Amino acid sequence: MTSRSRLLLTTKLQVIKRVHVPVPLSFNRQQNPSIRDTYGRARLHIPALPSQNEIDAMANAAAEKMARLRNHFKEVPEDSQTNSWDALWQQQFTPWDRQFPNPALVETMQNQTKLFGSPVHNGKRKRALVPGCGRGYDVLFFASLGYDAWGLDASQTAVDAAGEIKTQQGEDPKRYPVRDSQIGRGSAEFLVADFFKDDFLAKTGGTNFDVIYDYTFLCALPPLMRPKWAKRMSELLSPSGQLICLEFPLGKSPSLGGPPHGLTAELYDELFARPGDDVQYGEDGFVDAGRVKGTSDSSLEKLSRAQAEKPHDEDRKPDFVSVWQHRSN
Ligand SMILES: C[S@@+](CC[C@H](N)C(=O)[O-])C[C@H]1O[C@@H](n2cnc3c(N)ncnc32)[C@H](O)[C@@H]1O
Repeated sequence: MTSRSRLLLTTKLQVIKRVHVPVPLSFNRQQNPSIRDTYGRARLHIPALPSQNEIDAMANAAAEKMARLRNHFKEVPEDSQTNSWDALWQQQFTPWDRQFPNPALVETMQNQTKLFGSPVHNGKRKRALVPGCGRGYDVLFFASLGYDAWGLDASQTAVDAAGEIKTQQGEDPKRYPVRDSQIGRGSAEFLVADFFKDDFLAKTGGTNFDVIYDYTFLCALPPLMRPKWAKRMSELLSPSGQLICLEFPLGKSPSLGGPPHGLTAELYDELFARPGDDVQYGEDGFVDAGRVKGTSDSSLEKLSRAQAEKPHDEDRKPDFVSVWQHRSN
């Protein structure tokens, strides 16, 4: 590689890094240059880099999607939120969908086996819940670990799509390999249900979930609903269970609106100190940390918080995951 081409490559990489635009792996495959050693053997295969125009076009498309999402929920009252989500599903506008579980969840479940224990306890499978599950990749993942897993989504269209994915991929060992052959695969069920209402509990065998996973659900709710979200999580979690929160999006200023609404690590601390109590925000939309005083009977404490090694997308940093349980444990 000449010093001029190295300079060009570095400059292009810097441009990509600055605008945080995903570079599809399939991009211009025919033009992919290979770096060869002096014997002509391929040493490193790097994808061709997009031009600045292509980068700008991708950035504009991403911004347009965000604006469409924001406008769609503008001034939608609390009790019509779920209908608005269903409308997006019907329009097949699902820009959040990544088609596989976030590696941060996979790493958490692989690295913290002591914390979660076996998915089978006293001969019974533990129960996992994924609210706002969309197409349900995470539900299939929990089933592959051995949990009996439920995915809730308020949108019938989303639940239909999750059912299709389950049929196509649910037991595909390449996508969802059984982690422990002795434990085997648990069940994966999808329910059309509002997380905040009790109707679904008759089908899941009540509350007391052993594991609950929140990913892109808290950030989908209007900020005024957050205390209700925290209270509901505390009610649904078993006294010995763990709530896994994938904290997304962390880097986004809350003043930009949503969904997704920007979150911070401190927001979770405030919400779980006294679930159901209002939290206070500054003018910039960031939570005023330390305003919630003391804890309540329903409070949750943080067991761990870690950044994953792998990102969900090429354009994103690896996500942070925090794990919570009832304080009285
Ligand atoms: C941003 S999407 C995330 C979907 C999925 N977690 C993913 O990452 O692919 C939020 C989902 O929450 C669902 N949702 C919103 N409010 C809900 C509620 N109150 N109860 C259940 N699901 C809800 C929406 O229908 C939507 O599918």
